[in-house]
Amino acid sequence: MCSVVNFNINGYHYKLPVIYGTFYEKAINISQLRENTGLITFDPGFKNTGITKSSISFIDGEKGELLYRGYPIEQIINKCSFIETSYLILNGELPNTAQLKSFSEKIKTFNHLHKEINKIFDHIPNFYHPMGILSSLTYILDTFINCLQEEDMYLHLLAKLPILAALTYRKKVGLPPPHINPNLDYTSNLLEMFFSIPNKSYEQNPIITDALNKILILHADHEQNCSTTTVRLLGSADTGLFSSISAGMSALWGRLHGGANQAVIEMLEDILQSGGNIKKWIEKAKNKKDPFRLMGFGHRIYKNFDPRAKIAKKVAENIIQQLGISDPILELAKNLEENALQDPYFVEKKLYPNIDFYSGIIYQAIGIPKYMFTVMFALGRLPGWMAHWKEMKYNKDPIGRPRQIYIGYKKRNIQK
Ligand code: SDX
Repeated sequence: MCSVVNFNINGYHYKLPVIYGTFYEKAINISQLRENTGLITFDPGFKNTGITKSSISFIDGEKGELLYRGYPIEQIINKCSFIETSYLILNGELPNTAQLKSFSEKIKTFNHLHKEINKIFDHIPNFYHPMGILSSLTYILDTFINCLQEEDMYLHLLAKLPILAALTYRKKVGLPPPHINPNLDYTSNLLEMFFSIPNKSYEQNPIITDALNKILILHADHEQNCSTTTVRLLGSADTGLFSSISAGMSALWGRLHGGANQAVIEMLEDILQSGGNIKKWIEKAKNKKDPFRLMGFGHRIYKNFDPRAKIAKKVAENIIQQLGISDPILELAKNLEENALQDPYFVEKKLYPNIDFYSGIIYQAIGIPKYMFTVMFALGRLPGWMAHWKEMKYNKDPIGRPRQIYIGYKKRNIQK
């Protein structure tokens, strides 16, 4: 394996070291490039740039594989709960029975919000988007949580974010604050907090609990995606965990990122309402003059199927079949996927369905409305964001501060 790359610039010869990852993915280490050559690299969107070394998750975009701490997502989804997965992603190993019990129990001890948060929440106008509410309240949490142990900060967030999400949903639908049931497991309590009504607990359904568990697991981590890199960048400036996570939520909200799950369902509804002419919409997506894109399709890393989309499609089919729901949106999504994957445009550009293509169908079957979809994505991604913030601290990554190529005015004087 080559350990250096050689190149010549203006008659000078340079060598740069090559570093290798676990699966032998290679990187040219340019950390001394400018010092040695006066050159910087240019890579908008970091499409070819590794910003750190990480051991949390790994994506093989060509094969369509995803590992969490080395375990394939296909094994985790069938053998672990979301809380076990959160422990794995945060700590690097699956918990034994005692560790899982202690982790779950400790989260429950933080299962409450400071009364000031509830007062602040009461003054938030109901028309605010839930992602804006969640991000703002997560930032404010910092004020009310003074942790002695760093580990407790992660558990506070795992406990409190679902409460904030449930509060936000219940305010939107005119329900009183959530009832928290410490006797329920994490996912069942999440459903209780969302859907219980005064004097009547939510009627737990294992089909729904299983689907929610799975969709949270599918979102738990995904290397240096836009929102995770945002969390790392803020952490590198020594910004606190809660503020860094709050910023990650704002990045996730973008339509091209986590906001896509809501955009997919809105797109499918538009296609249905306009007569369901799939071929017309696929042509629209291919038309460079038309800003429309097939939401839920394409990915920066996957140039094969997103393994999470394959699993999410099965979860969507199961929950709809087991609950006896007739959902024309699922049928339309499957037809759209089939047609697009036979179209040379999508085949040549290697555009496949990503996690967001089917996730909204699952949320809707559970009873979660579109405007809460990205909030659910954030609840799933929380362990990944926290693990990367923690890893960045332990790696002692330097403050993130990219360079640029300046193309503005030459130096000039004010004429007055
Ligand atoms: C997530 O990074 C992650 O890991 C993210 C995520 C995670 O778990 O954190 O996986 C979650 O964000 C999934 C992606 C959700 N977003 C969408 O579904 C929105 C629709 N998809 C696209 O906007 C796009 O595919 C991106 C944003 C996902 C990826 O963008 P890239 O890598 O910058 O690719 P690109 O925009 O340069 O597209 C390459 C080509 C272009 O055509 P040309 O200019 O080469 O002719 O493919 C075309 C694009 O026009 N293209 C699409 C398309 N996606 C890409 N054409 C039509 N429909 C699409 N969806």
